[in-house]
Amino acid sequence: MKFFIDTANLDQIREAQDLGILDGVTTNPSLMAKEGITGDDKVNKHYKDICDIVDANVSAEVISITYDEMIKEGEALAALNPKIVVKIPMIKDGVKAIKYLSSKGIRVNTTLIFSAGQALVAAKAGASYVSPFLGRLDDIGSEGLLLVEDIRTIFDNYGYECEILAASIRGPLHIIDCAKIGADVVTAPLSAILGLLNHPLTDKGLATFLADHKKAGESAKK
Ligand code: G3P
Repeated sequence: MKFFIDTANLDQIREAQDLGILDGVTTNPSLMAKEGITGDDKVNKHYKDICDIVDANVSAEVISITYDEMIKEGEALAALNPKIVVKIPMIKDGVKAIKYLSSKGIRVNTTLIFSAGQALVAAKAGASYVSPFLGRLDDIGSEGLLLVEDIRTIFDNYGYECEILAASIRGPLHIIDCAKIGADVVTAPLSAILGLLNHPLTDKGLATFLADHKKAGESAKK
């Protein structure tokens, strides 16, 4: 399973890249705003900065909602760096934009996927990724993981190469559950990724190993 980080924070992206397991970065307009990045020039520079940090693909989201504007914006984003994957929202004009951009060799990540039908249409239009939002479904009392399971079944039935990019991840358990189901990619905040590393028995075991090693060294000196 591929690991993407879901943030526009450069320090967190650097930390994830340094960890050596990063396969990609996803951003969205809210994450960019959280970092205080506004205006086309600043946003485009920020995408370029992210691309310079990572050996991975970087999802950059369009902010227009009509076909003509989305393809113009998508082409401009893709021209910033070969690592850019254009993020298009799952709306009617978005489907047409996915078809156009993918036919031009531009990879598309379809965002705001909340149903299996939406994922099926995005894959058929040529999207490279579909992003089901698990956490936001959980938030309204609907089980987000069931959506990932349904999309996995449908894509496997027809051999769609479109990758399932599980998004809106809230913690390490979501990541593990997605891996069990067979999501191709998980995009998560750094805290959720780092949460996978921790176990109290690891800390306890390591402390014992180091203490035993020290004791053995001290008694050898006597
Ligand atoms: O980037 C899309 C998605 O991961 C957003 O997640 O936490 O805002 O629901 P969240």
